Amino acid sequence: MWSGHHLISMEQADPAQARALLALADADDFAPDVLKGRSVANLFFEDSTRTRVSFSLAAQRLGAHVVDLTGKGSSISKGETLIDTAWTIEAMGVDALVIRAGQSGVCGLIAERVGIPVINAGDGTHQHPTQALADALTIGRAFSLDQGWDFSGVRVAIVGDVVSSRVARSNIGLLGALGARVVLAGPAAMAPDSLADLGCEVVHDFDAVIDQVDVMMMLRIQFERGGGEGLDSTAAYHRAFGLTQDRVDRMKAGAIVMHPGPMNRGVEIADAAADAQRSVILNQVTHGVLVRKAALAQAIGGL
Ligand code: NCD
Repeated sequence: MWSGHHLISMEQADPAQARALLALADADDFAPDVLKGRSVANLFFEDSTRTRVSFSLAAQRLGAHVVDLTGKGSSISKGETLIDTAWTIEAMGVDALVIRAGQSGVCGLIAERVGIPVINAGDGTHQHPTQALADALTIGRAFSLDQGWDFSGVRVAIVGDVVSSRVARSNIGLLGALGARVVLAGPAAMAPDSLADLGCEVVHDFDAVIDQVDVMMMLRIQFERGGGEGLDSTAAYHRAFGLTQDRVDRMKAGAIVMHPGPMNRGVEIADAAADAQRSVILNQVTHGVLVRKAALAQAIGGL
């Protein structure tokens, strides 16, 4: 999980580190000046609503200054490379870089070449570690796992365009490390059998898992990354893999509905599911701020 002071990936996540971070986020009793006088730069070269605002609020609530840079309006649009941009911002004396970029693996490459902590806020189809931490905190709180954060009784379905999803990859790594069983569901093009190599079960019949899981995590089709290629129609997809009212009604008692956002209502998730009583989608957003506070406090606040 942490590689040195960087948070880049949840592949081979360290359960002890993950549990320590979840406990810190869950307690949320940070002193308001943990990061007083420090500054955090958000370098977001891809669109984002919740992740960027969430990192900004997390840093501010710990007393840090935040500077925001996006692809549009920065020298990236003049041809500057990401590493030159990162070095430039580092040279101004910031304490950490929070980076979102379209190229898979780029956050790790930048981390090797700067002297300050890098937190990956989503890189291509690779990883999105703080989203997985927000999701783990949400699951842990929903099922009262806060004594030890042991997820071994929990079965999680990740449904939809898994192959395009950095959120799925980070959740597979983290939830698996915490002991959960993960099943991936989707059409073969979105959930190919080869993903079983990540230590998951893979199924192509969504209805077969509806009443078998404690967590139903729905994913958007990532059309901008070529996801959904060969799809007949979004209506046909909704019938086969959408979380409809009927499917919500067949879920286990106590099972929860999750989605990292942004949602495409009527495609992977119906209004009735997104807004259902068992939906914890807005809790995921709330918990995103908590885990980002914990991650920043650990990276640069000495916690
Ligand atoms: C996702 C992302 O950008 O990776 N959203 C998020 O950060 N909560 C998922 C997506 O774009 O579908």
